[in-house]
Amino acid sequence: MEKKVDHSCTLDKIISLCKRRGFVYQASEIYGGQAGAWDYGPLGVEFKRNIQNAWWHYMTQLHDDVVGLDSAIFQHHKTWEASGHVAHFSDPMIDCTECNARFRADQLIEDFVHSHPETNPGKPVDTMTHEEMKAFIDANINCPTCGSTNRKYTAVREFNLMFKTYQGPVADESHLIYLRPETCQGIFTDFKSIVQSNRMKIPFGVAQVGKSFRNEIIFKNFIFRTCEFEQMEMEYFCKPGTDDDIFESWRKDRWNFYLKYGIAEKNLQWHHHDKLAHYAKDAYDIQYNFPIGFEEIEGIHNRTDFDLSQHTKVSGKDMNYIDQEDGNKSYTPYVIETSAGLNRNFLAFLCEAYEEQNVGDEGNEDYRTVLHLHPQLAPVTVAVLPLMKKDGLAEKAQEIRAALKEEYVTDYDQSGTVGKRYRRQDEIGTPFCVTVDYDTITKDSPNFDTVTVRFRDSMEQDRVKLSELSGFLHNAIRNYKPVEKK
Ligand code: GAP
Repeated sequence: MEKKVDHSCTLDKIISLCKRRGFVYQASEIYGGQAGAWDYGPLGVEFKRNIQNAWWHYMTQLHDDVVGLDSAIFQHHKTWEASGHVAHFSDPMIDCTECNARFRADQLIEDFVHSHPETNPGKPVDTMTHEEMKAFIDANINCPTCGSTNRKYTAVREFNLMFKTYQGPVADESHLIYLRPETCQGIFTDFKSIVQSNRMKIPFGVAQVGKSFRNEIIFKNFIFRTCEFEQMEMEYFCKPGTDDDIFESWRKDRWNFYLKYGIAEKNLQWHHHDKLAHYAKDAYDIQYNFPIGFEEIEGIHNRTDFDLSQHTKVSGKDMNYIDQEDGNKSYTPYVIETSAGLNRNFLAFLCEAYEEQNVGDEGNEDYRTVLHLHPQLAPVTVAVLPLMKKDGLAEKAQEIRAALKEEYVTDYDQSGTVGKRYRRQDEIGTPFCVTVDYDTITKDSPNFDTVTVRFRDSMEQDRVKLSELSGFLHNAIRNYKPVEKK
C-alpha cells in the first residue's frame, strides 16, 4: 500500500527548512552546539530585521505619541533590586535524584497534563504552591529523562533566571552586574530624561528593541525558548485612572499588528493570567497556534506605578511627573506595557506562512513548499531570473536587478530551469519573480522592454513595462492581501 505523505506544518520541517535555506543554524555546531543558542543566517537576519522594522514602523511611525530608545544592556545592579528581579525573577525547579536531570516543575506538570488531560491538578499550574507541585509530580510523573518510575525527586526550589557577572577585575558586590532579563527597565530609568529632553506630555510611549538574557532551565522547541533573545517592548505612561481603558486599547492594537502582517485570526488567542507577575495589576498573553500548540508570543501588562515608584525608592530620585495640563499636579504615572518576543514572532510568522501546496491535478499531485510571507517581511522581495544564460538575457537581467536594488532586497538566479528557480524562491517566501525572456530584448517584439512578474501565492503572471516595474511592485506590496491557507 502506498504510504501517505504528511503535508502538514511540523516544527521539524520548519527547523529543517531554516537550516537548509540559511534562516537559522545551531550556534557553535562544529563543537556539538551551544544549548539554547541559535545563529541567524543570511536569510534569517533579513527576515528578523524586517519583523523588527515592521514592529518599529507600526509602534512609532503610526503612533505619534510613541518615541524610541536604545538603552544599555548593562544597567546599574540596583536597577534589578528596584525592579524586583533580584528577589522575584525565578522559576520553580525540581531534580530527579537518580539521573540528576533538572526540570522546570511547572512545565513538567503542564507537559504531563497535555498528554494526560484526564489527570490534572484541578487548578491552574501557575497558582500551585511548591508543595502542591511536588505532591502532584511524586504521584504522577516518571522521570522524562531516565524513565525511572521510582519518582525520587528533590523538593521544588526557586531558581533565579538572571545571568550575573562582575565588571572589571574585582569580583565583589560593588562590581556585580547583570545581563538584563528584559529591555524595559532602561525605559523606566530614563523616564525623566525622555520627558525633559523631548518635552513629552502624558500619555506617551517609549519603544525599544534589544537583546535580553535569561538563564532558562529548559530550552526546547527550537528558537521558542532560549537564553539569549530579543524583545520588542513599548512602555506607555499614563495618568492613574486612565490605565484600564488604555490597556484595552493596546490589547486591540497589538492583536491587529499580527493580522496586518498575515497571521490568520483563528491562529491567535488570548490567555488571561491567573497569577500575576510581581509588578502587574492585569496581564494577557497573545498566543499563537504553533505546531506544538497555542503558546505565548507577546505579553500585555498593566504594570501600574510599580517600576517608577520602586526606582524613586531605591535611587532616591523623584520619578514623578508634573502634569501642566492638570494644574501642575504631581503623580507617578501608570504604565501599560506591550512586550513581544522577536524570535517568537519569527517562528510564528514562519509557521503561519509555511505550506506544502498541491499545485498539480487530482491523481497527479505535485507539491511545492511555499512561504506565504507578507512582502514586507519576506527576506527577498524580488528575484530576477533570465530565461536563459545566453544571448544577452543574463546581462539584461543583471541590469534590471541593479535598477531594483536601491528600493528592494533582490536576488538573481540563472541556474536550472525556470520552474526549479520559481520553486527555490517559493520556499524562501520571495513574493515576486521577474523573468527576462527574448521578448524583453527583441526590438521588433510587441513585448519589447517588458518582463513577466510572477506572483508567489497565485503563481499567476503579468507582463509589465520595464519603465513601470518599480511602481508596479510598490503597488503590489501596498495592496497585498494575505492568502487563506486550506
Ligand atoms: N517586560 C516584560 C517581560 O519581559 P515576559 O512575558 O517575561 O515579559 C515578553 O516576556 C516576551 O518575551 C514573551 O512574550 C516572549 O515572546 C519573549 N520571551 C520571554 N522569554 C523568552 C525566552 N526565554 N526565549 C525567547 N523569547 C522569550
